[in-house]
Amino acid sequence: MDNQAFEMHGESIPSSSKTAEWPKKEERKSYCSLMKIFLVCLLACIITTTIGVLVLSLIYAESIGFVKETVVKNRDTTSPKIDEKEVDVKFRFLNQLGKSKVHHFPGGDIQWARFRNDVNEYQSVEEMEFGKSINNFRSKMTFGTLRIKSNGLRVPHWHFNANEHGYLLKGTAWIGVVDADDSVVTTYNVTAGQVIFFPRNTLHWIKNVGKEDCLFLLFFTTHEELKTLDVDDAFFSTPEDIAARALKPQGGVNFIRTFKKQTEDQAINLPPNLQELVHNASYVQSPDHLVWRYFYDLKGSAEYPFPGGIFKWARYRINGTGLNETEKIFSESLNKHENTLTLATLRIFSNGLGQPHFHFNANEMGYVISGCGKVGVIASDVTSNFNIDIGDVIFFPVGSQHYIKSVCDEDLLLILAYSTGNQLETLRMNDYFHKTADHILAQLFFKEQNEFKKIPKAS
Ligand SMILES: *[C@@H]1O[C@H](CO)[C@@H](O)[C@H](O)[C@H]1NC(C)=O
Ligand SMILES: *[C@@H]1O[C@H](CO)[C@@H](O)[C@H](O)[C@H]1NC(C)=O
Ligand SMILES: *[C@@H]1O[C@H](CO)[C@@H](O)[C@H](O)[C@H]1NC(C)=O
Ligand SMILES: *[C@@H]1O[C@H](CO)[C@@H](O)[C@H](O)[C@H]1NC(C)=O
Repeated sequence: MDNQAFEMHGESIPSSSKTAEWPKKEERKSYCSLMKIFLVCLLACIITTTIGVLVLSLIYAESIGFVKETVVKNRDTTSPKIDEKEVDVKFRFLNQLGKSKVHHFPGGDIQWARFRNDVNEYQSVEEMEFGKSINNFRSKMTFGTLRIKSNGLRVPHWHFNANEHGYLLKGTAWIGVVDADDSVVTTYNVTAGQVIFFPRNTLHWIKNVGKEDCLFLLFFTTHEELKTLDVDDAFFSTPEDIAARALKPQGGVNFIRTFKKQTEDQAINLPPNLQELVHNASYVQSPDHLVWRYFYDLKGSAEYPFPGGIFKWARYRINGTGLNETEKIFSESLNKHENTLTLATLRIFSNGLGQPHFHFNANEMGYVISGCGKVGVIASDVTSNFNIDIGDVIFFPVGSQHYIKSVCDEDLLLILAYSTGNQLETLRMNDYFHKTADHILAQLFFKEQNEFKKIPKAS
């Protein structure tokens, strides 16, 4: 709506200046005939404008009707109670993931903060508000948590429409990534505080090789529904004779027939008789030049302190100076693939403030690992301030000004993702205040120019 108003305003300026020039150009012609032409034109103008306005208002009325209809429909199907309460706008920027549905599998579980095509898939209006918001703002991000039991396996699979960036919050896992064409396999161990990266359509698996549960915090680079194919599903959907000819096993198609599909979805699996099945689970770690394309030691990387806390970054850097050899491999790998993310951990000390700022080139999504805080977002059409707690997912659309304040005794710790594989561009409130001339500020705020000397330079 804002934009429409802006465009209409913009158009009216050149047209009024044209009418001002009009008499000058036509000075030589007789004033009388000019007047006639002008009147005819004016009449034509009025008629076309009237018709235009009528047509537009008809179209507009129809489209509004349509929107209203679908909203009503959505609400009806979700729950009868919903009509009574309005959804708080904060849920455009907040998803309380802890309250969302837990998808259980034999070897672990998954929870999602995501967009759904079918509104009936949302568990609540709040979840729907968030899902619609990240889709409308074209977030290029979807968030999920993946918990894997000891010895459990997120089975080999690939994603058709998204890269995957993950942060291991606890546990130890063994990762495998299979590339295209020359089928290079890269395998490595990842431990708490480290980061994994799977480019779109690379086949990958995640096995918990520790004694405790693994918990991955995952960002997928899509605001549509994630499209995934697990290797067991691909296998059982392939005709037996085709599989036999492709894999050429001893015993041919009869061997293929000995495979039995499990009744339950095995996305994360843990066969009860795993000991009988697996005899030798030893494996090697691939060399660094392969591993660091898909791995980053975020916990071990450099700290970037600011007055209220500390950042650590897993990102692409144009200027590789200061990066060590393995860090360079990761940086290049992110830049080489399309639509990758910049990841960061942000620790804000108790009562510290991540001051108001905005990003030119990225949406931001984050997950609260520990502590609690207060967040504010000023988007193009709404403003919202709200509290965040462990397990909450936040979303700041590109350009929206936002701040994060830590309000517990404990530090506030977040994992953040930015939708750019390039260098993040940011402008902070104290910076743009200082870069704006003080006589402009004086005029803007109806305030004596010297008053602005009271605002100290950025620290
Ligand atoms: C176990 O597997 C590894 C790698 O596949 C192999 O090098 C090793 O010889 C195997 N050990 C035994 C006892 O079979
Ligand atoms: C990976 O981690 C597991 C469990 O901590 C350990 O047994 C194994 O030796 C590690 N493998 C490599 C290649 O570091
Ligand atoms: C490079 O830095 C990372 C931390 O970002 C560290 O884990 C790694 O061991 C370093 N590599 C080399 C070759 O020093
Ligand atoms: C790259 O960064 C280093 C310090 O980190 C700086 O000295 C150097 O001038 C930078 N190079 C370019 C081309 O900006």
